[in-house]
Parts: sequence; C-alpha cells; structure tokens
Amino acid sequence: MSYGFYHVLHIICVIAFVSSFTLLLKGDGETKLAKIANGVTGLVILISGMGLLAKAGFGFDTWVIGKLVIWLSLVVMIPVTAKRFPGSKGKVYKIALGLIFVAVYLVSTKLM
Ligand code: HEM
Repeated sequence: MSYGFYHVLHIICVIAFVSSFTLLLKGDGETKLAKIANGVTGLVILISGMGLLAKAGFGFDTWVIGKLVIWLSLVVMIPVTAKRFPGSKGKVYKIALGLIFVAVYLVSTKLM
C-alpha cells in the first residue's frame, strides 16, 4: 500500500475519531455506533500511522513517541470516562481536543 493511501486513511480516521468521541462525551442519545466507531477508528489511526512511518522512513523520533503517548491516552481515557465517570465527560472532552491539537502540532512542525 502506498504512502498516499495510509495518509488519506490516517486523516479520515482522525476526523471520524473526533466525531465519535464528540458523540460519546457530548451526546445524550444512543451511543452504540459511536463506541464501535471510536474503537475501530482509534485502531486504524495506529495502523495507518505505523504504515506512514514505514513508507516515509521516519524513525521513532520524539514527535512520534509524543503522538504514540497521546494516542494511548485518548484510546484509554475516552471509553473509560464515557462508561465509568460520566460526571467528568465535559472536562475530558476539552482535554481530548487539546491532545488532538498537540498531536497535529507535533506532526506539522516535527519540532522535537
Ligand atoms: C490521535 C492521534 C493522532 C492524530 C490527531 C494524528 C494526526 C495526523 C495528521 C493530521 C497527519 C497529517 C499531517 C500532514 O500531512 O502534514 C498525520 C500524519 C502522520 N502521523 Fe499521525 N496522528 C495521530 C496518531 C499517530 C500515531 C499513533 C502515529 C504513529 C504510529 C502517527 C504517525 C504519523 C505519521 C508518520 C505521519 C506522516 C508524517 C509526514 O509524512 O510528514 N500518527 N497525523
């Protein structure tokens, strides 16, 4: 598979991931589909990210480690909060959006 394929997949899944966690943390209706979408897109973000790393020939630089840490925090924090700590959903939603911003900033600038 090409770099372009992984790139499109990665970006579409980031958009779908943010949409699904918005439903989980801000919606008040049925969330079954949002839970599935959140799990699937979270996994595809990691797989396509690894594909991009391999195709572009990047190593595990600090910005990549930063994205991996952010990814892991999001995929644990969002479902756990939605299920067990509904009172913290609003706060966690803001934190999740902040982490998405940092992940995009890291890859755009590759500062570290
Ligand atoms: C929720 C977390 C993540 C978000 C929001 C995110 C977001 C993005 C975005 C928007 C791009 C496109 C940047 C551009 O074209 O300039 C990108 C590219 C990329 N991402 Fe992610 N990503 C995330 C997780 C990951 C993970 C976990 C990995 C590593 C396994 C990864 C590896 C990459 C790589 C290698 C590129 C290509 C960079 C380049 O070619 O310049 N990302 N990511």
